[in-house]
Amino acid sequence: MTNILLTGGAGYIGSHTYVALVSAGYRPIILDDYSNSHPGVIARLEDITGQPVAHVRGSVLDVAMVSALIEQHAVQAVLHFAGFKAVGESVAEPLKYFDNNITGTVRLMQAMERAGCRALVFSSSATVYGDPAAVPITEAFPLAHTSPYGYSKIACEHIIAAMLAAKPDWHASVLRYFNPVGAHPSGLIGESPQGVPNNLMPYVAQVATGKRAHLNVWGADYPTPDGTGLRDYIHVMDLAEGHVAALDALLQTGRSFTVNLGTGAGHSVLEVVRAFSLACGHAVPYKICERRPGDIAQCYADATLALQLLGWRAQRTLADMCADTWRWQSRNPDGYHEAAIA
Ligand code: WQD
Repeated sequence: MTNILLTGGAGYIGSHTYVALVSAGYRPIILDDYSNSHPGVIARLEDITGQPVAHVRGSVLDVAMVSALIEQHAVQAVLHFAGFKAVGESVAEPLKYFDNNITGTVRLMQAMERAGCRALVFSSSATVYGDPAAVPITEAFPLAHTSPYGYSKIACEHIIAAMLAAKPDWHASVLRYFNPVGAHPSGLIGESPQGVPNNLMPYVAQVATGKRAHLNVWGADYPTPDGTGLRDYIHVMDLAEGHVAALDALLQTGRSFTVNLGTGAGHSVLEVVRAFSLACGHAVPYKICERRPGDIAQCYADATLALQLLGWRAQRTLADMCADTWRWQSRNPDGYHEAAIA
């Protein structure tokens, strides 16, 4: 049994990747400080997988604890999900993002080195491309940050590259996510943002359940087919399976790589609203508003390299993403924050 450590494994992407790893025969262990996730997800994961979940409450900043955890479980690789990811918050609280995201990654790698585990899968983001000169975006595009959050991801990519150059026995897979949305088809786990959702899909889902009155469409004057922002939405289960494919490749070949994890197609805000209305069976009210500062018009992946390197491509459609989101949201209108969840 190959033991894998998932930092931030109780979070949105981490929890779905946990399910995919168990399905693929790995033994994942969750490490989470629950600063941006909820312990209620553990019981849900046990329901889905039918087996106990190995989990530890703690921070990646605690080198001694993480190093001991890696040794205790003979961890063969680490998937590093733990990190803050709200662009707007990062502008208001840059040090919080630099400490958690950058220092956290450095401390994690120190713990890995101390424990002799040198295989890392890193959660990066399409935000590292800034405002791209063209679409679709390939991995060769220049990196440019447009927020402290984006800077933290670029910094971590450089730190990992420096470690790979210095230590030939290290290998890493950097995965640049586009826009993760959706939920596990069971409706037991999904995205459970704290407070008012920044991202489109969870906000639309909360409008659909009546928790929010309407969606504010941030701008309808972009140079796109219907004037609203275009993004590469990828189902979180496709993303999870992309992590399994990347881990398989990393452990089997020992070669490092950076790939986009996207569908290669873009959808506008209004296309998402229409698709969600079909999924939930009623209209999703919205208002056209001014652009949100910092937003870009279009962002979608060239997904060729992931297919070439990993034999992986996204399978699920926008309709699947909306149907699975609706099932999760309608059954858990307050996410994991309901009192009923232990
Ligand atoms: C998508 C589209 C908005 C909310 C961000 C981060 C990125 C990644 C994913 C972490 C845009 C529009 C949104 C709303 C709207 N996170 N929108 N009304 O900004 O593409 O990416 O999340 O890695 O790093 O930057 O995602 O979902 O916020 O916006 O009209 O209430 O929906 O203008 O066109 P974004 P998003």
